[in-house]
Amino acid sequence: MGDSNRADGGGPTDRTAREQPGEPPESRKPTAGQRGRETGVAERLGLDALSPLSRRRRWVGGKHPWRVSASLFPGEGTPTEQAQFLVRYAVLAPSSHNTQPWLFNVTGDEIRLFADLERWLTVADPDKRELYVSLGAALENLLVAADHFGLGYEVEYLPGSDSAHASTVRLSAGDSQASETSDEASDRRDSRLFETIPNRRTNRSRYQERPVPREDLRVLQEACAEADVRLQFVADPAKVDALADLSSRADRRQFADPNYRRELGRWIGRGAFGDSWLEAKLGKYLMTYLNVGGQQARKDAGLMRATPLVAVIRTQSDGRRGQIRAGQVFQRVSLRATVLGVQTHPMSAMLEIPSLRRELTGLLGQPEWTPQHLFRLGYAGGVSEVSPRRPAEAVLVD
Ligand SMILES: Cc1cc2nc3c(=O)[nH]c(=O)nc-3n(C[C@H](O)[C@H](O)[C@H](O)COP(=O)(O)O)c2cc1C
Repeated sequence: MGDSNRADGGGPTDRTAREQPGEPPESRKPTAGQRGRETGVAERLGLDALSPLSRRRRWVGGKHPWRVSASLFPGEGTPTEQAQFLVRYAVLAPSSHNTQPWLFNVTGDEIRLFADLERWLTVADPDKRELYVSLGAALENLLVAADHFGLGYEVEYLPGSDSAHASTVRLSAGDSQASETSDEASDRRDSRLFETIPNRRTNRSRYQERPVPREDLRVLQEACAEADVRLQFVADPAKVDALADLSSRADRRQFADPNYRRELGRWIGRGAFGDSWLEAKLGKYLMTYLNVGGQQARKDAGLMRATPLVAVIRTQSDGRRGQIRAGQVFQRVSLRATVLGVQTHPMSAMLEIPSLRRELTGLLGQPEWTPQHLFRLGYAGGVSEVSPRRPAEAVLVD
């Protein structure tokens, strides 16, 4: 077991001990967690177990969900049909290792969002922080889409005793801003954010030195409306340098752990990062059996040092609610950045190792605000390829 687990006092088998005090217990499987509805011909014929391509489709999906068209919204449809349509936007959210750890249950105008615990990264993310940040990103896409189609919404976080049930969204005809129970961030969601959902990508290339203009920084800062969530920018070269050092140390420690490499290799092998079948298989074996930690550390530290701006999302509490809301802010900021032509790239390794996460907090100051997510921002030369997604039909459960 790697340092990321040891430093926290136990491995994945110790996971129940990691639940937040005062939070409901988390079942191993989501209550609505049966397999999503199958879509492909092979699946319908029951060939899923036989075909590597259909297995891959089940785990990471394909690229077609990105071709979503707002003109297909069932304006005259039932509340259930409208709610299901919004899920097409939710699935385009970013997630750690592109695990897409979400399931949705739609009943009438109610959408329940669940963690799909089969997709939890037990080694890289033993305390499930990234799992909930990813769920928050999907929730934000859903709300941006609801807003665009003129639907009101109320969001309830962790509504039941099962904390795999991350939130329930209740839709209503009409604008959420007019409703008394208005979500505090509803006025930060607009049609430009909606239209850019299919254009947002993680961009891992080296960013140009050109700084993000002050006016754009203000716009990005305003995207965070939540009083219990903070968006902190780091542009001071000395601090960025210290972040590069943390990133490098985190990479070396993680890649030295065969379990970490095996887990990452498994997702690479499934094609989570959009590689061809052959690249994915080769990548899986290289990742699993070679320790490329030194190389990765140098690469990531170089990317960090060259970047004009780093952002850290911090919350007042380190509970699940805060993590979901951090994910919402991340997605809203990423969409706004995309509108402004600014690229984003999360770099989580230093948050995944408790001792380095504490060092990060010390570096940032204000220890009462817990860092939940960290990403580079800047201008990239090229455009990134889309990564695959499970279609809405595959993540809708009864
Ligand atoms: C919580 C979270 C943590 C992430 N951490 C990293 C990271 O450490 N390194 C990285 O390259 N990408 C990271 N990503 C980006 C994902 O790999 C990316 O969202 C996923 O592969 C899907 O690609 P897309 O964002 O281009 O749609 C993270 C994303 C989320 C939501």
